[in-house]
Amino acid sequence: MTNVFVRAVDPPVAISAEGSTITIEGGREILDGSGGAIANSIGHGRADVAAAIAEQATTVDYAHATQFTTDVLERYAASLAPHVPIDDVRVFPVSGGSEANETAMKLARSYHLARGEDRHLIAARAGAYHGNTRGVLDASDRAQLVAGYEPWIGNTVRVPGANRFRDERSGAELAAETEQVLREVGIDRVAAFLAEPIGGATLAAALPPDDYWPAIERMCRANGIVLILDEVMTGFGRTGSWFAADHWGLRPDIITAGKSASSGYWPLGLCLAAGRLADAVAEAENFMHGFTWSHHPMGAAATATVLDIIERESLVERVGPAGERLSARLVDGLGEHPNVGDIRGRGLLLAVEFVADRGSMDPFDRAERVTERIVTAAFDAGVTVYPSTSCVDGSVGDAVLLGPPFSSTDAELDAMADRLVSSVLAVLG
Ligand SMILES: Cc1ncc(COP(=O)(O)O)c(C=O)c1O
Repeated sequence: MTNVFVRAVDPPVAISAEGSTITIEGGREILDGSGGAIANSIGHGRADVAAAIAEQATTVDYAHATQFTTDVLERYAASLAPHVPIDDVRVFPVSGGSEANETAMKLARSYHLARGEDRHLIAARAGAYHGNTRGVLDASDRAQLVAGYEPWIGNTVRVPGANRFRDERSGAELAAETEQVLREVGIDRVAAFLAEPIGGATLAAALPPDDYWPAIERMCRANGIVLILDEVMTGFGRTGSWFAADHWGLRPDIITAGKSASSGYWPLGLCLAAGRLADAVAEAENFMHGFTWSHHPMGAAATATVLDIIERESLVERVGPAGERLSARLVDGLGEHPNVGDIRGRGLLLAVEFVADRGSMDPFDRAERVTERIVTAAFDAGVTVYPSTSCVDGSVGDAVLLGPPFSSTDAELDAMADRLVSSVLAVLG
């Protein structure tokens, strides 16, 4: 019996967490290969973060953002700014990635209105995941999450995804097709293009063609469309640079972030917007947006300490080699397996996609629940991996993601890979 509205069937009780390990009731240690939902950057149990939260709780615990600002938040925004590839960035903290994307979409619309342009359409891609609240669920393209809620959604303009494993089109072709779709609905009505720079929870770390992002950025600029990069999963070092935008030298108008930014020590999302947008809506006084807990001082204290640890321990620099080590070990163990279609990703955002047939790359029948069986076997073997059951097209497919803390040791990374490999072999033979 439980009074908790649980999200899993009989989940084990986590009793302590340290570094890359979560210990469950009975004393069994589980390696946090998925960092929860690909959310842990600095590892569990950091006393510095606990101390910063405690100190802030007795300094200014909470002050509403329409009435006050706080030193801790001002300092955090100033130290974050140099890492963000956005001109004159302004930091709008919220309570999670979904809220960050809701904020970004509303800001894009308000920005256009402030400049006298009545644009309201949001373009988002096939195979996207932007969150689970109603607005961003509409932008997401994942059949299992949308099921039942269809009457509430359908306003997003769906444009092609970018998955070089399953799609041979070049980035230039995809950008041209995207522009064509937008022209059909009226490109001067499009407020924003919202996309994950590298596939995430739906497409399992799928990479775009190399020329995709520069072409999309040009298309957005040429047509006055606000470019929102959803870096909730990729931001704060996860792919080996501070933001995935850096891999292509992009300068988006808005970046949204969450997950690794606070590493789980505080429920946090960030809408990082160009000063030009923030100034326009401030002047027009038309962005009546925020939440009770936005700009929370204790969130800023936690997150500032996480940022400090990422910088001090050079964790972004650690991600590249750590990711190469982990992926090389996965390739060693699974690269030739007849049911492994692809091992992919960047930095410490990695995925293994499973296929029924390596020749055709056809997916398994979902009824076989291949992903679920592998996730369970991996947990039993002592490592968490994150499921994707929609990596082919947003509705079918089997993949697992690994996204461990950046601070994981080489021995821990090897053990994560080995436990996943043995679980795959146990399930698929
Ligand atoms: C790319 C992306 N955007 C948004 C979200 C939603 O974030 P949250 O679950 O914090 O609301 C996620 C969560 O997985 C994500 O991966």
